[in-house]
Amino acid sequence: MATTMRSLWFDSHPLDIPAPAVPLPGSHYDVVVAGGGLTGLTTAVLLARAGKKVAVLEARSVGAVATGNTTAKVSLLQGTTLSGIAEHQSTEVLQAYVTANRDGQAWLAQYLDERDVGYQRRSAWTYATTAEGAAALEKEAAACHTAELPVTWQDTTELPYPVSGALSLDEQIQVHPLEVLGALAGELHERGGVIYEGVRLLDAKSGSPLSVHTTGGSLRTEQLVLATGVPVLDRGGYFARLTGHRSYALAFRMPAETGSAHAAPQGMYLSADAPGRSLRTAPVDGEEYLLVGGNGHMVGRANSPRGAVLDLEAWTRRHFPGAARTHSWSAQDYRAADHVPYIGALPRGGGNIYLATAFNKWGMTNGVAAALALSSEILGGQMAWADTLTRRSVTLNGVLSGVMDNLDIGARMGTDWASAELNALPDYPPSEGHGVVGRSGGKPVGESTVDGVTRRVSAVCPHLGGVLRWNDAECSWDCPLHASRFAADGTLLEGPAVSDLPVND
Ligand SMILES: Cc1cc2nc3c(=O)[nH]c(=O)nc-3n(C[C@H](O)[C@H](O)[C@H](O)COP(=O)(O)OP(=O)(O)OC[C@H]3O[C@@H](n4cnc5c(N)ncnc54)[C@H](O)[C@@H]3O)c2cc1C
Ligand code: FES
Repeated sequence: MATTMRSLWFDSHPLDIPAPAVPLPGSHYDVVVAGGGLTGLTTAVLLARAGKKVAVLEARSVGAVATGNTTAKVSLLQGTTLSGIAEHQSTEVLQAYVTANRDGQAWLAQYLDERDVGYQRRSAWTYATTAEGAAALEKEAAACHTAELPVTWQDTTELPYPVSGALSLDEQIQVHPLEVLGALAGELHERGGVIYEGVRLLDAKSGSPLSVHTTGGSLRTEQLVLATGVPVLDRGGYFARLTGHRSYALAFRMPAETGSAHAAPQGMYLSADAPGRSLRTAPVDGEEYLLVGGNGHMVGRANSPRGAVLDLEAWTRRHFPGAARTHSWSAQDYRAADHVPYIGALPRGGGNIYLATAFNKWGMTNGVAAALALSSEILGGQMAWADTLTRRSVTLNGVLSGVMDNLDIGARMGTDWASAELNALPDYPPSEGHGVVGRSGGKPVGESTVDGVTRRVSAVCPHLGGVLRWNDAECSWDCPLHASRFAADGTLLEGPAVSDLPVND
C-alpha cells in the first residue's frame, strides 16, 4: 500500500498538459497564477477570457495535491460547516459564505454543461448515528435556515446502518475532478494561456511589475495569484492561523448482485459524528464505484496513518459486505479558526499579490468562488460577498481556538525535539515502509526504508524548524507544525515550505 496510493481520478483520467512553447526565464505576463488546482485554473481561465496574458506555475503537476485527490462533492450542504461558521461569525458572514458557494456551484455546473463534461445531480446528506450527532444536526439545521438553505430533516436514509437523524438537500452535484481540470486546462490553452508544470514559485520582489523567482528561472508579472493551497510567500502569517487536516479515501468495486444491504448509496453522505465518514458513488468507464472517505487528523499528528486506512477499509467491508477495494489515497486541506476561507489581497503584498486559502475541505465550491472574486478584483470589479468575507473580524472564540491549536503545536514541537535529541538513531535500518527520527551529529535525522532503499534526510522542516514525523501510509515525512510534507528522499510534496529536505549521508 505504502508507495502506491493513487486516486481513482488519476488512474481513470490522467492529464496530459502541453508544455509551453515560450521559455519561462525573462517572460512577462499580465497575471501569474501559482497553483494548478481548481482555484488556480479557474482563476486563470476567467482572466484569459478577459484578454489577460496568463501563466500558471505548478510546482508538481496539475491536480497533484488536493484537487486530484478530493472526493469532489460540489455541495452547499457541507457536513456541519455552517453551524461551525455561525458559532464564530455574524449572520452576514454566514450568508455571504453561502452566497459565495452558491455562485461557485452555479458557475461550475454551467461551465461543465458548456464544455460537455459529465457530472451527476445527487441529493447531499449530513447524518448522525448518535444522540450527540443528532444535536449537532439540529444546530446545522438552524444555521441552514438562517442561510436560507432549504434542507429537510429525515429520520431514515438508504445507508445500511441506522441513523439518529439526517439532513438532506436535493439537486447537488458530484464530479470527476480531473475531468474538470482537463476542461479548464484545455480552455486556458485555447485562449493563449500557458501552464508550466514542475515549476515552483520561490519568491516575488514587490514592484510593478513584480519580479518573480521560480525553480525554472525568473519572470515578471503585473499581478500574482497564490492558489497554492496554503499560501507560500506568507507575509500575512497565514500558516500560523490555519490548521492542515489530512484524510483518507478509498474506492470500492461493489459485488455484482447488489441486494439492498449491499447497494452503494446514491446520495452524497457525510457524518456529523466522529470519526468522519464520507460516501458517494463514482461512475468511471461504465462501472460504478463506491467512494468512502474519513478518519481525518491534523497533518503529522497521527500515530499510524496506515492504521487509519486499514480501519476505513474494515469499516466499509463491515457495512458493505463483498465490496472490493481498488484504490486508496489521501489528501489535506486547511481550516481557519472561524471556518471561513481567506480570499483577497495578501497583506503587505503591495496590492498586486492575491491569495485564496482555507477551504476546509469544501474547495469544489469555495475554490471556484475564490476564482470569481479574485478575477473580478483584478479586472476592477467586486463581488459583494467577497467584500463581506474579507472585512470580517475573527471573534474571541475563533482567536482562542487558533491560540489553542498553536499552543498544542508548540508543545509538540518541544517534545519532538527533546525525544529526537535523546535517542540516537538505531543501529539497524528501518524495515520496509518504516521511518524513524533520531539524533545523528546532534541533530534530528530521519531514516527510512522504501522500496528496498534506506535513506537519511534532515528531520527538521525547512519552513520553521518543526521536527518531522513518519507517515507509514504514504511513506512521507510530515510536519506537525504547519503541515508541510516531504517524500522519503526529501523532495517537497506540499505545504508552506518551499525547499526540499537536505539529504544526510
Ligand atoms: C480528502 C479530501 C476530500 C475532499 N472532498 C471535498 C469534497 O467532497 N467537496 C469539496 O468541495 N471539497 C473537498 N475537499 C477540498 C478540496 O478538494 C480542496 O479545497 C480544493 O481541491 C483546493 O483546490 P486548490 O486549487 O485551492 O488547491 P490544490 O488543488 O491543492 O492546488 C494547489 C496547487 O498549488 C501547487 N503549489 C503549491 N505550492 C506551489 C508553489 N510554491 N509554486 C507553484 N505551485 C505550487 C500544488 O502543487 C498544487 O497543485 C476535499 C479535501 C480533501 C483533503
Ligand atoms: S510547515 Fe512550518 S515548520 Fe514545518
